[in-house]
Amino acid sequence: MTTDHVRNEDLIGRADLDDLESILSISNADVDEVRHIVRAESDAIFTWDYERTRPALGKLYEKAKTSQWNGSTDLPWDTKVDQAEVALSNMGQAQRFPEGTDFSGTAFESWGDDEWIQLAVESQNWTLSQFMHGEQGALICTAQIVETVPWIDAKYYASTQVMDEARHVEVFARYLDEKLSGHYPINAHLRMLLDDIVADSRWDMTYLGMQVMVEGLALASFGFIHQMTTEPLLKQLLRYVMSDEARHVAFGVLSLKEFYDELTEAELRERQEFAYEAAVRMRDRFLQQEVWERMGIDPKEAMALVLADEGRPLFQQMIFSKIVPNCRKLGLLDANDQWLRHRFEELEVIQFEHAVDTGEEYAMLDEVARDREAATSVG
Ligand SMILES: [Fe+2]
Ligand SMILES: [Fe+2]
Repeated sequence: MTTDHVRNEDLIGRADLDDLESILSISNADVDEVRHIVRAESDAIFTWDYERTRPALGKLYEKAKTSQWNGSTDLPWDTKVDQAEVALSNMGQAQRFPEGTDFSGTAFESWGDDEWIQLAVESQNWTLSQFMHGEQGALICTAQIVETVPWIDAKYYASTQVMDEARHVEVFARYLDEKLSGHYPINAHLRMLLDDIVADSRWDMTYLGMQVMVEGLALASFGFIHQMTTEPLLKQLLRYVMSDEARHVAFGVLSLKEFYDELTEAELRERQEFAYEAAVRMRDRFLQQEVWERMGIDPKEAMALVLADEGRPLFQQMIFSKIVPNCRKLGLLDANDQWLRHRFEELEVIQFEHAVDTGEEYAMLDEVARDREAATSVG
């Protein structure tokens, strides 16, 4: 039996979660890359069983068909956006240094308002760029699920999600192009995670990595920014994207719940490790090392200040508020002597285990249906 520390090195390449050297050693070496190719070895599965035996997935599919929206015409694209102002109010919170950080003797000491505003602007460009890249990951993964999942109800539903994700990539790309001031290449930690998810041949791993982990994180972080921003276009964009994302996470939880009930402890352990590795990669990416580089700051110095005292800023814990309860619902927290529970304790995110899980939440979050109802009752 190996110790957890040895396992940590095998799983995430380092023993200490906050080993900055090791986190920074993973970086995007080819920022001009246009095509990124991942070899996927999964089987495409036909099913000749067309019987509709999964009513919960059927309900989700019906909802998805009626709650489609059009990224070109349903959002107020004529909104004028003052990026500096928006960036300060949106991102100030998300990437904040701990209260009362002492900058004397650091590269930040000489910073004036201009530099702090530029940091907020770059952070916003970076954050929205990573959302866009993550959305493309979701587009590719759901197309893959259409092929690999053995159940007809899941193939039907996943096909609607492919359209949803295309729309999400489209609206984030357009927002970046028309309202912000520059794209960032994909963060290396995020790319590594997406590569792992796409390359895995087991269909349920695509679900776990994308639907539960990446989309669970997206749902929480979109919610955070949606709450903070007063910019009407971004607010509406996130509101609609979140309506879709809530369905996507529900799709993952409903499908995996059925599948995991049949797995052995050893098989569950592989899923726990996959979930843990995904959690660490996503946490690493939020240190936004590329932004510090662009600002001419040594990322290690900036990251050490961000992580000083109380550890990760609240935002970086909150992004796990959907993932932890969903892992609990799937039985992943406590299988194998609470293996994943202990890992989430180390990541300081276990406090979310009893937050609302996303199996049913999607109906409440359907803002598209709500707007349509309001429009017809007025007209
Ligand atoms: Fe999406
Ligand atoms: Fe999604």
